[in-house]
Amino acid sequence: MTSEHIMNTYSRFNGVFVRGNGIYLYDDQGKEYIDFIQGVAVNCLGHANPVLSNTLAEQSKKIMHISNYFWSDTQLKLAERMVGLSNHNSLFFCNSGAEAIEVALKLGRKFGRSINENKYEIVYTKNSFHGRTMGALSVTGQEKYQKDYRPLIGGVIESIYNDIESLESKINDNTCAFIVEPVQGEGGVVLAQKSYLQKARELCDKYNALLIFDEVQTGIGRLGTFYAYEKFGVIPDVICMAKGLGGGFPIGAVLGNERASKTFVPGDHGNTFGGNPLGCAVGNAVIGELVDKGVLKNVNEMSDYFYGKLEELKSRHKSLVELRGTGLLVGLAFESEAKKFTDECYKKGLLLCTAGPNVARLLPPLNVKKDELDKVLSIIDEVLTSLE
Ligand SMILES: Cc1ncc(COP(=O)(O)O)c(C=O)c1O
Repeated sequence: MTSEHIMNTYSRFNGVFVRGNGIYLYDDQGKEYIDFIQGVAVNCLGHANPVLSNTLAEQSKKIMHISNYFWSDTQLKLAERMVGLSNHNSLFFCNSGAEAIEVALKLGRKFGRSINENKYEIVYTKNSFHGRTMGALSVTGQEKYQKDYRPLIGGVIESIYNDIESLESKINDNTCAFIVEPVQGEGGVVLAQKSYLQKARELCDKYNALLIFDEVQTGIGRLGTFYAYEKFGVIPDVICMAKGLGGGFPIGAVLGNERASKTFVPGDHGNTFGGNPLGCAVGNAVIGELVDKGVLKNVNEMSDYFYGKLEELKSRHKSLVELRGTGLLVGLAFESEAKKFTDECYKKGLLLCTAGPNVARLLPPLNVKKDELDKVLSIIDEVLTSLE
């Protein structure tokens, strides 16, 4: 199916979806699907979560939007809550992952320039994914996304992910920032080694550069800790977030420690919608559920259960060569194309996406239940059997 009214930028499945409930989505023919894409790690509390729907409805009756010329109660509360959960000092609100990355890149550039004119190089990693705007794309180490858009921004330097020697050879006095995903999501669900992130911290300290973690996909509870960096025990200077923060409503944020935060002064950056009362109200509700109501604990319990069961499946199905991920960011790596597997799952009513050519990515909502995981495991088992 195509639409003459929408630019042709996505290769989509054919379904037209009209409503959802928890892990389920329903198309316009009334067919039920289990959604383990969840808006690509966005709907962290599933579809039509009543707490989030009520929050949005109630807040929309008070104020939906004011400009950033003023403060709002919901924005102040969300900032206090997010900073309180971190080791950082302050944050900037935006609307999406790529926007958060742009903020972090600008922060890095200004931080460097405040030290000397030559300190502007941003080091990034091969196979990363940071978004599609020109700055974010320039630090996304994947040829297929970059090739038609050159020249990209200058002063960006590629290094190899999880390779300490490569990082050592790229970071120097001219580096203003190093940007890295704690887990490369789009790049194939590849976890950073702790020693690698520790080395990155050490090098950024040595050369006075900002360490930026892109937690757009991995933050807000996805890995079982509120911020992804907690899982690795390495504290970055800057954290980019979006996706799960609004549970389905667009909101992003960039947290900075003191040395990063004080770089920006009025006029340095801004946006119209960032930190609007509706987004911040729903962000507060998301944190309430994750942190105060025990959803984070559920992530850890369900993750242990799920990986245990997936290991059993792996031992019975030779085509499944590796289990990847942590928390509820799960990758199933195949010898050949994962799309064959995700297409079959789709036919059986299970929505999954891929991450790189050979990996299927599973992104359940963080409040998923054991019996729901069991249903998914049984579909995966059936599909793997049918493909063998
Ligand atoms: C790690 C990471 N960074 C940045 C982005 C870009 O986010 P957005 O699509 O909201 O611009 C994504 C999106 O998938 C992502 O996974």
